[in-house]
Amino acid sequence: MKKIKVLRGKNRYTIIAGSGCLELFPRIVAEQGLHGNILYVVDENVYKLHSASIKEISGSVGGKNNIYIMPSGEKYKSTEQYQDILYTLINNNFGRDSLIAAIGGGVTGDIAGFAASTYMRGIQVVHIPTTLLAAVDSSIGGKTGINFSDRKNIVGTFYQPKFVLTDYSFFNSLPVEEIISGAGEIIKYAFLGDRLFYNEVNDLIASVISLDNKSLNKIIPACAEIKAAVVTADEKESGIRKILNLGHTFAHAYESYYNFNIKHGCAVIAGIISSLFLSYKKGIINRTSLDYFLKLPLKIKFPVSGTPDTEAISRIMLSDKKNKEGKIKFILVNNIGEIMIDAEADGDQIRYSVQKTFELLNSNLIT
Ligand SMILES: NC(=O)c1ccc[n+]([C@@H]2O[C@H](COP(=O)([O-])OP(=O)(O)OC[C@H]3O[C@@H](n4cnc5c(N)ncnc54)[C@H](O)[C@@H]3O)[C@@H](O)[C@H]2O)c1
Repeated sequence: MKKIKVLRGKNRYTIIAGSGCLELFPRIVAEQGLHGNILYVVDENVYKLHSASIKEISGSVGGKNNIYIMPSGEKYKSTEQYQDILYTLINNNFGRDSLIAAIGGGVTGDIAGFAASTYMRGIQVVHIPTTLLAAVDSSIGGKTGINFSDRKNIVGTFYQPKFVLTDYSFFNSLPVEEIISGAGEIIKYAFLGDRLFYNEVNDLIASVISLDNKSLNKIIPACAEIKAAVVTADEKESGIRKILNLGHTFAHAYESYYNFNIKHGCAVIAGIISSLFLSYKKGIINRTSLDYFLKLPLKIKFPVSGTPDTEAISRIMLSDKKNKEGKIKFILVNNIGEIMIDAEADGDQIRYSVQKTFELLNSNLIT
């Protein structure tokens, strides 16, 4: 089991990661003096597969405890679902002395965190991530949100949890495409960390995907450490935190273009590849570095169909909420651990990067 500290001062909290650590939940709640009135917001698939252990922990914390089953899927990160959680809190008389425990992937964590941050001007929240993606990324750093008016995460808050409890045994029931999706964010951290970690991810990514416990225990806490260090330096994303968006300018456009029929982590892999091509096209890295850096994301194989319309991708990127003054901002790679933020690119460079990405992905389907 590993422990990672996030942030300083009053918002400081700990990530506890290890196989089987869910059983520590009642003890941590008591040790940290957290509220015992708990609404467990649980992803429906997770509840179906893990109801026994969830009931066990919920039964062993004193106080009010209710389980709210969150329907699975991005479309439920909605105002309707948010309202439903608020009604559940109100109808069950949850007061300011309450805690929401979010048990699920990024969708559950984002909406439960948003509900916790707004109900009665903020009640406590803890995250129990059950997808690989949530474990290495969405459960850390305090971003909450829902989708609104066809815009992803357009409404949200920064709201830090009291702790994060990452139990790898949840991952055993994950569909393979969700494991691959989580691997996409792990590849991102490989570029954000140092060369030692990059090599480690390169060596272990296949065994992470096959859920080898030793590899998970090396890679997941290391990714969490990188994210923790970045959000500690820049809690509200005014500067360095933007490096966490490596590949995401392209990725969000790919997700939107494919009507969210592409997994987030797969879109991130495609986005990292596009960022590498863009770094090359802008003369930031040479051909040898490009070829070397492309090897890692290409270790993850996932289905793609054809090449998207490059003009449509540019248009979608222009409407991204992160843009300022109509300029698309990219995160580019100078070297491992050397990331450039707020880089700009012209239309030709963008079209080239998208085109090359999908040519490569289409030829990378067979092992
Ligand atoms: N807040 C942040 O900083 C942040 C960062 C990255 C992504 N996100 C958000 O995270 C979301 C994506 O998260 P995700 O990939 O975890 O998706 P998700 O929450 O939709 O989970 C993916 C699927 O896996 C199922 N599932 C979850 N755990 C399972 C388990 N242990 N066994 C079997 N099935 C399980 C879910 O029911 C769902 O069908 C997006 O909405 C994205 O915007 C947020």
